[in-house]
Amino acid sequence: MIYQIYPRSFDDASGDGVGDLAGIRRRVPYLSWLGVDALWLSPIFRSPMADGGYDVSDYCAIDATFGTMAEFDRLLRDSHDAGLRLMLDWVPNHTSSEHPWFVESRSSRTNDKRDWYFWRDGVDDANDGRPNNWLAAFGGRAWTWDKATSQWYLHLFLPQQPDLNWANPKVEAAMLEVLQFWLDRGVDGFRADVIHLIGKDPRLLDQPAALADHDLVGVHDDPSTHGHLRRIRQVLDRYQGERAMVGEVQLGSPALLAPYFGRNDELQLVFNFGLLRSPWDASAWAAVISEAEHWLQETYQWPAWALGNHDTSRQRSRYGGSEERARVAALVLLTLRGTPFLFAGEELGLLDAVVADHQRVDPAGRDPVRAPIPWDDSARHGWDGDPWLPWPPEARQRNVSAAQSNATSIVHLYRRLLALRRASPALRRGRCRLIESNPAVLAYDRVTADASDFRRVLANFSDDTVALGSDNADWVVQISTNGQGEGDGWRGRLLPLQAVVLGASPGSTGRNR
Ligand code: GLC
Repeated sequence: MIYQIYPRSFDDASGDGVGDLAGIRRRVPYLSWLGVDALWLSPIFRSPMADGGYDVSDYCAIDATFGTMAEFDRLLRDSHDAGLRLMLDWVPNHTSSEHPWFVESRSSRTNDKRDWYFWRDGVDDANDGRPNNWLAAFGGRAWTWDKATSQWYLHLFLPQQPDLNWANPKVEAAMLEVLQFWLDRGVDGFRADVIHLIGKDPRLLDQPAALADHDLVGVHDDPSTHGHLRRIRQVLDRYQGERAMVGEVQLGSPALLAPYFGRNDELQLVFNFGLLRSPWDASAWAAVISEAEHWLQETYQWPAWALGNHDTSRQRSRYGGSEERARVAALVLLTLRGTPFLFAGEELGLLDAVVADHQRVDPAGRDPVRAPIPWDDSARHGWDGDPWLPWPPEARQRNVSAAQSNATSIVHLYRRLLALRRASPALRRGRCRLIESNPAVLAYDRVTADASDFRRVLANFSDDTVALGSDNADWVVQISTNGQGEGDGWRGRLLPLQAVVLGASPGSTGRNR
């Protein structure tokens, strides 16, 4: 399981109210207690923070807000000592407008780095004079006028995030050097931000009328990206040990995600956000899982599931505030085939924070999910300074220390699921077979190729008790989201919003498998 940390929100050890590397470092024992395998840190590079660090002005420097390179090295060492891998967030599609590359590029039309970004003349008769009809992700058009050189530049996100022109081999080379810089330091891999956007047809053709109202991020899928991905993979493969990249590819269907694995020579992992976007409905979840299995089996690839991240409302908030639903979702996430990603704080069942207008920081309104993590019930909940955003609701009761000391809390459910997953070859690597049961129940088996390990997952999405019958008297309830029935034989009945992992009882013959 890969645990995502939004460093500004995790823990502040410097007293300025913004989370930092030293704050993360002092929580490594907690992360290892929880049982995560790897950490992914949202960007920690030097940045003017127009987009919370996804606007990088130096890819090889740590932003002073987070600490120093020496502090980073200490965090890397401590993580490795605790058996945790560390992944960084590489932002390849765009830099900050304050990056020296862009500062040079915009300095004159003849600058050497002019072609590192997309500069175009306007087209008078259409798009209010802009070069094409593209829209930016956070609203408005994807072009900004530069007075000094009288041209437009392209940005698929904020104007402070100009898009790099990867078709220029010098850009690709410079960005591959960034990867090498961090791999040489010992990082285990990267989460690659909106990586499907890096290849662009230099003609920058208009979006067809039917898509003209959509920003590019959810539809852009240019074949030239795949050549870049193969060269990126070659860099990773040159290093010893397993160095991995998980790509954020914002294209809805798994059919469109599958090509991003290449022939096992592009991304090792590609996020599937299908469940994150599904309504609370067992059949909808089953459909997402079956689609993903279908497309990835075709290419023998491995799914990467996420139910939350720094861009989306927290799970419990999305599920109407219900912790029971959040528990069911946790059990499913941690028993599916593939690598699960967990956004920090989901293991506490946190809700989105209420952020008043005057407290808003993010231009795209994502502050509520980025509220600080409460570590204990003291006034500052374990932070050294007063945090930059308000606390999430219920921080007095719902904090790490309170959750750890209550064996029935959701954090213990996560921990036990992670331990079970680690101990079970079927849950780790086995096939996933969806089972038809009851429309309110998501049901699947996980089984190793030699059938030596076999688990069944049953998740009741409804508020009613569901009778399923028991086709195998040997089943034992290993984990139950509400604790009920654990260790007992399976009696074929799920309580409202209860999910269970079943395993064979010791000494069973396995006859009904
Ligand atoms: C990705 C990030 C998001 C960021 C955007 C631009 O979608 O997850 O936080 O704003 O890219 O870099």
